[in-house]
Amino acid sequence: MTYYVGKECIMCKHTDCVEVCPVDCFYEGENFLAINPDECIDCGVCEPECPVEAIRPDSADDPDKAEMLEVNKKFSSGPNKWPVLTAMIDALPDAEKYKPENYKEDKLPLLSENPGKGD
Ligand code: SF4
Ligand code: F3S
Repeated sequence: MTYYVGKECIMCKHTDCVEVCPVDCFYEGENFLAINPDECIDCGVCEPECPVEAIRPDSADDPDKAEMLEVNKKFSSGPNKWPVLTAMIDALPDAEKYKPENYKEDKLPLLSENPGKGD
């Protein structure tokens, strides 16, 4: 089992989640964060921290689950691995505009593969 970050995070990146993770397994992209499924210890403390409810366990009933599990894995390990982020930073400038209640389109096409800065 693992927790993963869903599409809601894309273009928002609030980063409240990273503060509470006991194993520092969040990896920062330019406009999204990924959880490493092999490092996540399934504690669940990050889930309620996300203001846009992007984080869920892989037992969740989510039509985007398979796709997003792949995305989380791809950018938290291997050749595409992003840097780790452990401390909260400012949300992206357009976070309000891209909140799930304000932006109804599929956000996956907006996902940047570029790394964030990490810490
Ligand atoms: Fe980190 Fe726990 Fe969230 Fe996994 S479930 S990413 S270990 S805070
Ligand atoms: Fe993303 Fe939510 Fe964390 S928007 S960066 S999963 S707090």
